[in-house]
Amino acid sequence: MPGKPSLKTTECVGGYPAGIAWDSSVVLPVVHSAPFKFASTAGLIRYQETENAGYRSEYGRIANPTVRAVETHLAQLEGAGAAALFASGMAAVTTTMFCLLSTGDHVVATSDCYKRTRDFLCGTLGRFNVRSDVVPVDAGAVEKAVNRSTKIIFTESPTNPYLNVIDLEKLAELGKRKNVLTVVDSTFATPVNARPLACGIDLVIHSCTKYLGGHNDLIAGMAAGGTGLIERIRDVRATLGGICTPETAFMLERGLKTLTLRVGRQNRSAGVIAEFLESHRKVKQVFYPGLGSHPQRDIACRQLRGFGGVVSFLLDADFEGTARFVDALRIPAIAPSLGGVESLVEQPAVMGYWDLPREQSERLGMHDNLVRLSVGIEDARDLLNDIRRALEAV
Ligand SMILES: Cc1ncc(COP(=O)(O)O)c(C=O)c1O
Repeated sequence: MPGKPSLKTTECVGGYPAGIAWDSSVVLPVVHSAPFKFASTAGLIRYQETENAGYRSEYGRIANPTVRAVETHLAQLEGAGAAALFASGMAAVTTTMFCLLSTGDHVVATSDCYKRTRDFLCGTLGRFNVRSDVVPVDAGAVEKAVNRSTKIIFTESPTNPYLNVIDLEKLAELGKRKNVLTVVDSTFATPVNARPLACGIDLVIHSCTKYLGGHNDLIAGMAAGGTGLIERIRDVRATLGGICTPETAFMLERGLKTLTLRVGRQNRSAGVIAEFLESHRKVKQVFYPGLGSHPQRDIACRQLRGFGGVVSFLLDADFEGTARFVDALRIPAIAPSLGGVESLVEQPAVMGYWDLPREQSERLGMHDNLVRLSVGIEDARDLLNDIRRALEAV
């Protein structure tokens, strides 16, 4: 009918399909198409030469409109020029490193980070003659380790599982002074609690599986930073094949709608739980950036708008006593991961580090009596009562 817009999506315009479904849908449409078609060869050539500045979306491994829309949202959340979405947090880490590093390069990484990230840096990249030095979570220690071959400074903040916080402004200044790229895994902070790019950091990475997705029901990752850097990373992603699926991007977008609400509640509940644990006679030590006892409390107060939903603590117990506490909890599920609406708990000595010889996992800080609790959005009083009751089992 004349004047009526066509429902057909026949041409790609700037990476997005033209058509009423995309324009008027209240929620993000999921575009399933693997290839994207063009009206003519001339149209394809025009697209490649003009609108294809920096990225292409003729094929779903390279880009997808649903994925791109969520990337735009994530870039806004982080205050970045652009963001790239991946099939997992590890795909974000590995693709970024493969993009930025070459044989002979050196990486300075901070200790106390996700095990597979450390394994990738020290193991996989080592096989390509990229050397990584792992130093304490401290800007001074990082500076000492930087040498002429250093191309990347990598850190988490807060760290996994000890919730250490590093001075990101100092790190960014160091990176600029030494001409080294700074990369921060900000999964534990979320864009609600920290903005590493605003501190001058070059690139921020998240496991979107955690707070950004927020419902323990998807696996995804992202990297955000300057547009040029992200375009280079997207190009390597197209080769390695680690792009996020459009369905997962849609679920992530749905999670992002409640991110601020969820994280605000998780910040508050975790703060109350950390204080309770610190005052309990069966708890030896609590690690939480919101506590006065936290070793980098000043940095945390300056850098974080909220202290996050993860609390780690050492029980006054041996391996069995700690396992009894974990088993006695009724609300948090014994499971890896963190940041979702359901509380999760783990004894890292068993979860993730069981395969390592005991001395090695001890050296990495995975003591028998360490517990990591990811606080969900359940009623904080219910969680406190559950924890109080479970502590009696210790
Ligand atoms: C801090 C941190 N970064 C990255 C990852 C890897 O993310 P994913 O599981 O989405 O691959 C994890 C996973 O636990 C993590 O805790």
